[in-house]
Formats: sequence, structure tokens, C-alpha cells
Amino acid sequence: MYNKIWWLSVASVLVIATALTTYEENFDEGNDLDVPSERKGKILFPFISIVRFANTDCASANTMNGICLARRECNNLNGTITGTCAARRGRCCVVSRSCGSTTNVNNTYFTSPGYPAAFAGGQACNIIVNRCNNMICQLRIDFLDFVLAQPNGDGVCNVDSLTITGGNTVVPVLCGDNTGQTIFVDFNGNAAITITIAATLATTFGRRWNMRLTQLGCDCPGLAPNGCLQYYTGRTGTITSFNYGAAANSALSASLVTGTRQIANTNYGICIRMEAGFCGIQYSQTGGDPFSFTLTGDVEGADNTVLGTAVGSVNGVGCTTDFVVIPNPITTATNVPVGSDRFCGLGFIPVTSTLKPFVVYVVTNANEGAVGGTPPDIANRGFSLAYTQTAC
Ligand SMILES: *[C@@H]1O[C@H](CO)[C@@H](O)[C@H](O)[C@H]1NC(C)=O
Ligand SMILES: *[C@@H]1O[C@H](CO)[C@@H](O)[C@H](O)[C@H]1NC(C)=O
Repeated sequence: MYNKIWWLSVASVLVIATALTTYEENFDEGNDLDVPSERKGKILFPFISIVRFANTDCASANTMNGICLARRECNNLNGTITGTCAARRGRCCVVSRSCGSTTNVNNTYFTSPGYPAAFAGGQACNIIVNRCNNMICQLRIDFLDFVLAQPNGDGVCNVDSLTITGGNTVVPVLCGDNTGQTIFVDFNGNAAITITIAATLATTFGRRWNMRLTQLGCDCPGLAPNGCLQYYTGRTGTITSFNYGAAANSALSASLVTGTRQIANTNYGICIRMEAGFCGIQYSQTGGDPFSFTLTGDVEGADNTVLGTAVGSVNGVGCTTDFVVIPNPITTATNVPVGSDRFCGLGFIPVTSTLKPFVVYVVTNANEGAVGGTPPDIANRGFSLAYTQTAC
């Protein structure tokens, strides 16, 4: 009798031990991080290791986001282990991909070949992004570092270009400096989103990119409203046009005047989440830079009595080529309605809008040069607008 019970216990201990070993092997057969307490913990409490952990996102020490995986799974993805997660049972795995790749891993980093070294170009480079599961609605693309060639002097991205296709959001063709920009692209059902960068061969310039591709679930609180190419949250913030920057474009336009940084053919919406307790939104051009609102006209022919002032600002029917749309605005300083929702020219006077949702539309036409445009565009930079939500 006692004998039988003893043998049964021995047998069950053996069975359980075998099961544990097998499981453990599947998940973590190495200890790349060599955490002594972890090793000890496994011997003392082996049952801890059999708990399967969720493949959630994880943050790593170098601020890159990863996904929590077993070591072997990370190796299979050619990922880089940057730390532990799931109470040390998993590995925070950062996945980077470059030209000619496919990914369905959340938080994939899409980089130029040899990043962060300059990429000489000479080839088109693309990544195909598949949804990591069928509850994904949107791809968030963070331009962590993004330097492509400037557009030509007429604002056309014909040296380098970023093209994004396959999604449900129309993304304009972009180029130039876009570090810090974020865009949101709706998935079109199960179709993949393809990101393509065409880079003309050139050796003397610091072309590079590092874009984080975050897959957002349909119920994710960070999801942008459908169709908003950009989405801002927070009571205050700064929105800038693509390739907005301090230096002028060194390329000349077709008519041999100074070229523009403003990119042609960008037609998109920027949405701003209305925060709790706030009912209106005020916009002003950012201070300290006289070029922070230069959408149309001759920047070089204007001095500081025009740039950034009421003299330089244009609205209404005067804005037909490149402009931003702010619905039903009121001049902040005077509380007088502007009477028009289009703004362009070389200056922007602060306005407040109480129309919901908070959206700014951006329109640029096909030609940002001095030819064919009325008025001619010379050396335009685009815009940098600060917004502040106003309490109810
Ligand atoms: C992808 O990662 C981000 C941030 O790291 C997270 O907010 C998001 O929910 C993740 N998506 C999925 C499908 O887990
Ligand atoms: C990982 O790298 C190897 C060798 O370069 C390659 O053959 C394999 O396809 C890569 N796997 C993934 C998932 O990218």
C-alpha cells in the first residue's frame, strides 16, 4: 500500500519535471543576460517559468520600443534583445528592418541601410507592413530621424521621395527634413501598407531615416480619427508643415529664383483632440522665426515689417494656391470674426476657433515656384503654428 503511493508520487514528480523542462526549453534555453538572481529563481521556483506571458510592447533602456518575446522568438526575428520583460520571463526584443523587407511585428523600426551612417542612395527602398492581427486599424509612423534631399525649387520631391500606399489614408509624397513628424495611416482591411523611399545617388549629404511603425488596435485610445493624417493631443502643441525648417532650400526654382521648402501637392487634415474642459482652440505662428508662416508670395522681397505681420497676412479669396483652413475663426486680439477660413501669405495673426472637431486642413498646389503661380512663390518655408486650447 505505502509502496504504491510512493511509486505514484515518484512517477508524477517525474512527469511534471519532464513537462517543466520541455516548456522551459521552448521559451528560454539560454541566459543571454546572465542575471544571477534569475538563474537562482529558476532553480528554486521552476513553476514560475511555465507561465506563458503576453507579447505586449515593452520599453527598453535606449528608448526604443520592443515587443516582449522569448529569446528564441526574438532570435528568429533577427531582433535585438535590449532587456527583460514579463517579470524577467521574456526578452524585450527590438526589431529593425531596412530595404526590401516585410514585417508584421509591432514597433518595427524601418531604417536606411547602414543607419545612422549616411545612405548614398541609388536604389528604391521599401518595407511592406502587414497587420500583426486582424484587430489592427491603423499604422502610426513616427519619423524619429528623417533627412532626405530637399524638394526641387518648385517644391516637387523629384530627387528623393517617400511614398506610402495600400492604406485608406491619402499620404502626400514627402521629402526633405521631417524629423519629429508623426503620421497615421488607416489600414484598408487586411491589405498591407507599403512604405517606399526613392533615393537618388548622391554621396555628399547626410541622407538617413529611422521610422517607428506602431500598429494600433481598433480599440486603441491612441488611434487618430479616420482620415486624419496627423493627430495631436494635449492642451498645447506645435504643428508644422512637412519639411518646415530654418534654412532656405538651396535649390533654385525653374524660373531661377530661390526655391521653396514647402512641398507641392500636400492636401491633408491635422486633427487635434479636444481635451476635457476645453471648448476652443487658438492658433498663432511660432515666435522667434519670422519665416514661421510663409505659405505664398515672395519671402525674399519682404522685410520684417511684412514677414509675420498683419501686412503680410492674406486670407479669403486671396488664398487660392497654398493655404491652411481653420473653420469659422475669430481674431483672438479683437474678438472680431475673420469672415473667411483660408489663410496664406507671409504672416498669420492669432485666431481662435470654437468649431468641433478641431481640424486644420492644409492645401498646397502643384507648383511652389515662381512660375504660373499668382502670386509667385519665392523661398516659402511653410508653417509652424502653436496651438492652445481654451477653457469652456
Ligand atoms: C504596439 O505598441 C504600442 C506602443 O509600444 C502599443 O501602444 C500598441 O497597443 C501595440 N499594439 C498592439 C497591437 O499590441
Ligand atoms: C534573419 O537573418 C537571416 C540571415 O541574414 C535571414 O536569412 C532571415 O530571413 C532573417 N529573418 C527575418 C525574419 O528577417
